[in-house]
Amino acid sequence: MVKYKKVMNRGINMFNEMKIAFYVTGGIASYKSVSLMRELMKLGAEVRVSMTPSATKFISPLTFQVLSKQTVHVDTFSEDDPKYVQHIHHADWAELSIIAPATANTIAKIANGTADNFVTSALLATTTPIFVVPAMNEHMYEHPATQTNIEILKKRGVYIMEPATGFLAEGYSGKGRFPDSTVILDEIEGFIINQSDNLPLQGKKIIVTAGGTKERIDPVRYISNDSSGKMGHAIAEAAMKKGAEVTLVTASELAVHSQIKKVKVESAQEMYEVVDANFDNINVLIMAAAVSDYTPVKQENQKMKKTEQLSIELKKTKDILKEMGQKKTHQLLVGFAAETENIEEYALKKLTEKNVDFIVANDVSKKDRGFHSNKNEVVIYSKQDDPVLISLSDKSKIAERIIELVVEQLG
Ligand SMILES: Cc1cc2nc3c(=O)[nH]c(=O)nc-3n(C[C@H](O)[C@H](O)[C@H](O)COP(=O)(O)O)c2cc1C
Repeated sequence: MVKYKKVMNRGINMFNEMKIAFYVTGGIASYKSVSLMRELMKLGAEVRVSMTPSATKFISPLTFQVLSKQTVHVDTFSEDDPKYVQHIHHADWAELSIIAPATANTIAKIANGTADNFVTSALLATTTPIFVVPAMNEHMYEHPATQTNIEILKKRGVYIMEPATGFLAEGYSGKGRFPDSTVILDEIEGFIINQSDNLPLQGKKIIVTAGGTKERIDPVRYISNDSSGKMGHAIAEAAMKKGAEVTLVTASELAVHSQIKKVKVESAQEMYEVVDANFDNINVLIMAAAVSDYTPVKQENQKMKKTEQLSIELKKTKDILKEMGQKKTHQLLVGFAAETENIEEYALKKLTEKNVDFIVANDVSKKDRGFHSNKNEVVIYSKQDDPVLISLSDKSKIAERIIELVVEQLG
């Protein structure tokens, strides 16, 4: 095992000002690495690219140069700055090395310590963590030689991503594709989190609920509400980035970061069952879901036919927050109060009646915030401290602040 440096964990904006040495090798997927590099830059990373001579047959260094606004290194011996040996300087400058795509050939070379071009020489010299995105024909990937080289690298502490399965350049389906940029970015974030050893929520298990539940009337109709799930999903991500093991119990269709365990539910009853079954083993429950208060007494098996008048009898659903408040032993409970009037009064009532530690109260009557919006303004009430106002800001910022309060409370 090589002792690699650790990447500094920057919290929510994980790539902000991160110095990334980005290595491109000669695979057909090298054109896809342009978007990956752009995404990293959009997230605030400083990216410097180097390429193998084979990679330049697929894509021009000029493309990377223009987009990264940095010199792209290909030739080990074009030493145009006497102050530095370029491949060593490139390796020393970086905090993180990414090889995307990584050919079978380059994987073999770095497994064996070959240093015969700029990329392999810099990779032998680097002390940064190395993240590899292999992309190749399925048979090349599954070949025992490639698999042995991958194993050697993994044992050395190099992170090797699983390629995606799908349509390959050869015209048939197989395992070997370059994954989508979002999947790669999620996995890099997970890699950075896992190699950090000073995150405040490491070892903590958190359940976050999100979205508006749906209560079925018949197979095609339901009662629901305007909650998008954005707040809950942002909280889950903020907790994950602080090192927590997060389960997101969501009624929303929004995408979920691959490092978060997603449990998709539909009704209030389903959400209750998942939360209840896992409650004893968690440290924190954050109920950001808008759980329906009522559900139809009877659910029709067939689509209901039109009638002159229709009455649907409703019954109360389980109050998940209240039930967990009664059950709680060591768990920290965070509830939400989405109100249109008397916000403070209702929030304080919830705090005591439901035995929760924090109530995040928001006014959902305003158009520029709350349901569906990316922004919100909330006041966080607790039994022990003065209310904390978080004025109108992105839900990711609010999520970060809520998680900071959770961290403080857990001590
Ligand atoms: C059209 C074409 C596509 C290729 N695609 C891949 C690929 O996706 N993955 C791979 O490992 N090798 C691929 N190769 C083979 C590599 O280019 C070859 O092994 C080369 O020596 C890799 O050099 P490098 O590792 O120094 O970049 C391809 C070759 C050609 C001609």
